[in-house]
Amino acid sequence: MAQKKGILDFQKMKKEGEKVTWLTAYDYPTAQFEEWGGIDMILVGDSMGMCVYGYSAGTMPVTMDQCIVHTEAVRRGAPNTYVMGDMPFLSYQTTPDEAVRNAGRFYKEAGVDAVKLEGGRRIVKMIKAIADAGMVVCGHIGLTPQSTGQFGGYKAQGRTAESACELIKDARAVQEAGAPLLLLEAVPPEVGRLITEELTIPVYGIGAGPYVDGQLLIVSDMLGLFQAFTPRFVKKYANLAEQTIKAMKDYVDEVKQAKFPEEKHYYKMIKGEFEKLMELLADSPS
Ligand code: KIV
Repeated sequence: MAQKKGILDFQKMKKEGEKVTWLTAYDYPTAQFEEWGGIDMILVGDSMGMCVYGYSAGTMPVTMDQCIVHTEAVRRGAPNTYVMGDMPFLSYQTTPDEAVRNAGRFYKEAGVDAVKLEGGRRIVKMIKAIADAGMVVCGHIGLTPQSTGQFGGYKAQGRTAESACELIKDARAVQEAGAPLLLLEAVPPEVGRLITEELTIPVYGIGAGPYVDGQLLIVSDMLGLFQAFTPRFVKKYANLAEQTIKAMKDYVDEVKQAKFPEEKHYYKMIKGEFEKLMELLADSPS
């Protein structure tokens, strides 16, 4: 089994040009598969709002308690993988104190290696407070799903010179505030490249092109499980929804047609015990 990676490994990988592989997970079995598949880092994303809970309001209703329960399960499934907790809406935006307390819950209750917060310059006080308390913070800028109301939907960011400039300022501020990792979401590759080359910390992307230091995908997208919509940056490596529905239909057909269970699925009585049972029943009529 590969050794669990840490922040020093991620810095070394950036220097040596080795890409980091990063996926979300929300449960124990998926975390196991990711660890066995050699994934470097797992995010227990608040995307669970869509992928697990089916909330039409996306990530916004997700609570700290839900994140903690799912992160604990992921930690148990992937004890040798870097696990990051995703701070849900209103768990860090109000005050630095509240941000520290909630980041601390991820560490104390779920055993994470890092936490992630959405936002650039407007949340530097929270990033600094969490980092000052000794925790590892990953910044997240670009399309930040907790602010899609302000963006007018799930829209790529940094597509104009002006908006790219704002993102670059945000990236600098996040690094300056003490975050040793940064995630860029849904930005053009040129912007991904500029930020990755300028910052000394590892910069990862989800829909940020090929020049970033590592790639993140939402596991439900890449496995073809999430059906509501597919962002442009998703590559489906499997179509598990199709396979799962086919398995369900085959089960329904086989049970209805008495093709399942077959003899190999039966438990056998110990030799001679059935005859004994018949005698017992004959001796004690109901
Ligand atoms: O919650 C999540 O999975 C995320 C990704 C969209 C980056 O934050």
